[in-house]
Amino acid sequence: FLAQIGPDALLRMILRKPPGQRTGDDLEIIYDELLHIKALSQLSNTVKRELASVLIFESHAKAGTVLFNQGEEGTSWYIIQKGSVNVVIYGKGVVCMLHEGDDFGKLALVTDSPRAASIVLREDNCHFLRVDKEDFNRILRDVEANTVRLKEHEQAVLVLEKSPRASTLGNIKYTVMSGTPEKILDHFLETMRMDTHHSDPDPAVDDFVLMHCVFMPNSQLCQLLMAHYHAVSPPGSEQERMEYAVTCKRRVLNLAMRWAAVHTYYLQEEPAALTFLEELYGSVSNDSRILRALKDFVPDLEKVVKLHSGEAKLRKQKVLLRQFSNGDERLAKKQPIRNSDDILLKVYCSDHTYTTIRVAVAATGREVTSAVGDKLASNEDLLLVHLSSAGEKHVLKPSDVSVFSTLSINGRMFACPRDQLNALTPLPDQEGPSAGSMSSFELMSSKDLAYQMTLFDWELFSCVHEHELLYHTFGRLSFRRTTANLDLFIRRFNQVQLWVVTEVCLCGQLSKRVQLLKKFIKIAAHCREFKNLNSFFAIIMGMSNPAVSRLTQTWEKLPSKFKKFYAEFESMMDPSRNHRAYRLTVTKIEPPIIPFMPLLLKDMTFSHEGNKTFIDNMVNFEKMRMIANTIRAVRHCRSQPFNPDVCQPNKNHAEVRGYVRKLCVIDNQRTLTTLSYRLEPRRT
Ligand code: CMP
Repeated sequence: FLAQIGPDALLRMILRKPPGQRTGDDLEIIYDELLHIKALSQLSNTVKRELASVLIFESHAKAGTVLFNQGEEGTSWYIIQKGSVNVVIYGKGVVCMLHEGDDFGKLALVTDSPRAASIVLREDNCHFLRVDKEDFNRILRDVEANTVRLKEHEQAVLVLEKSPRASTLGNIKYTVMSGTPEKILDHFLETMRMDTHHSDPDPAVDDFVLMHCVFMPNSQLCQLLMAHYHAVSPPGSEQERMEYAVTCKRRVLNLAMRWAAVHTYYLQEEPAALTFLEELYGSVSNDSRILRALKDFVPDLEKVVKLHSGEAKLRKQKVLLRQFSNGDERLAKKQPIRNSDDILLKVYCSDHTYTTIRVAVAATGREVTSAVGDKLASNEDLLLVHLSSAGEKHVLKPSDVSVFSTLSINGRMFACPRDQLNALTPLPDQEGPSAGSMSSFELMSSKDLAYQMTLFDWELFSCVHEHELLYHTFGRLSFRRTTANLDLFIRRFNQVQLWVVTEVCLCGQLSKRVQLLKKFIKIAAHCREFKNLNSFFAIIMGMSNPAVSRLTQTWEKLPSKFKKFYAEFESMMDPSRNHRAYRLTVTKIEPPIIPFMPLLLKDMTFSHEGNKTFIDNMVNFEKMRMIANTIRAVRHCRSQPFNPDVCQPNKNHAEVRGYVRKLCVIDNQRTLTTLSYRLEPRRT
């Protein structure tokens, strides 16, 4: 019998049997066949055995037959046993061909979304092996190394992988690993969950709107979203075409609203973004008269458009000026610094005279030097130099953007011709104070000091835009945007740290120094109570600076109660096991929290430097997700507003406030160390 009908026909006959009627021998024959199928080569033999008992044979006689259409619900996964098919996408046409041994139709099953393409037979008499959804889920759910890889015109365009964290609902969760920018956008639009409101977004969509500027500028995103909004419905009944259009539009609107919520006022700086929002609003208002399902977007979108267009117009007339000229700027900070703002910048010459120039916040090194050159009526080529109090020179590149915001605490900006570079010396006032300020702050209560420091930190922290974290991580230069608000916040961290070291090193009397240590420990404890971990760490790190920690006579006199507190605080700084002690502390407290910012920045830099942004011309979306997670950690800290009533104001609160906002410090470690040795010489 076998010899008569041949192995292929036998196999086909077996595969046509309903799965329940297959004998042990039948399963063995199917299994042998599966061992040779490319699409299954990644799967274990156990999985292949299970598949043998559920696979169904399906054949079609005529080329041109549509196996299924884009947009339909996905019910099965297919393997091509013989023949070939075209993958067709509306608006793109045939994006690829699949042949014997290839598979298709997995995407809709694993992402629980409609078919992303139509499948059309390229030749007569094609044979398929089909696995229906229920079996697919049961057998392939727990399989390792499950990847979906999509190609267009022989190029990989999207790679999904089964997420290690299978969703609790029992369905398998697939995440985007990499893809071309456009295909990633298409994918998120298609698979976006629509049952959530745009203020409570699908996390995958949130990753996209947070990170897209790394691989897709706003101008391109706006253009693509507009095209999706106006996508032409595929042929079908009037009803079907209408439903298709509504779905497309609602998805675009959902993503656009989320996008606007994340970008906030940045949108006002980009005419393309504003135009897009206005056009979208126009179209939706119009369309919603016929497509009622769009109505609920109209008021929200209107609000967004009015807010940004209105403010953008206002800001055209009035440019804010800010003083950010030297180290001790007294910024009355309530509002974020924007790229479009102007600043006054003091730039020194080698003879210590200075010019004050007015430039845009995002001004490049070149723009600053040319403004200085204009002022000095000089046409010499000038170098722009950061000069630290210790005399270290850092020559800024002409292409650097927003050059002022990374000045060190007592650093100054100099401009000079190249031949004067070596002769640059710091200004006398860069040295910092020569006497401590203990006499003024010892009378202030530690709690008040911690409270006012926390208020200030909150102002600085609230002004940091989520995207500044990105610009900082990937380099401002490629975005041509300022990170001034973030820089100010980081600068404050350094300042508080140096304040502690400076005060201790400038305190000549041993008993006073002991008082000082006690005071700082108390302030740190209150900062922690106010959940201000940034200043808390700044103080503790100041106390662990070698210039302070080496003062053994002072530490010996510290009461043991304080020693214990300090030891506990210091243990939170323990970097072992990736700062586990700190991370545990944070998970235990509820927002509002001011996080230990340098660590968050380190996490992002680590993710950035350890992972390529592009893999085989596709965006490494896994990396985007890692960085987005850290940004979300920052978002979480700010998800509740800080309640300024946690502390009753004292009558001297204005004085305390003034004090904590203009801390004068020595930022030269060598000077601090010298002072420290003067206080307590090395024991011989
Ligand atoms: P699914 O969305 O279930 O149905 C259409 C199938 O076409 C899809 O799964 C993929 O398996 C397959 N396909 C192959 N290449 C592509 C592509 N570039 N874009 C979308 N789908 C593709």
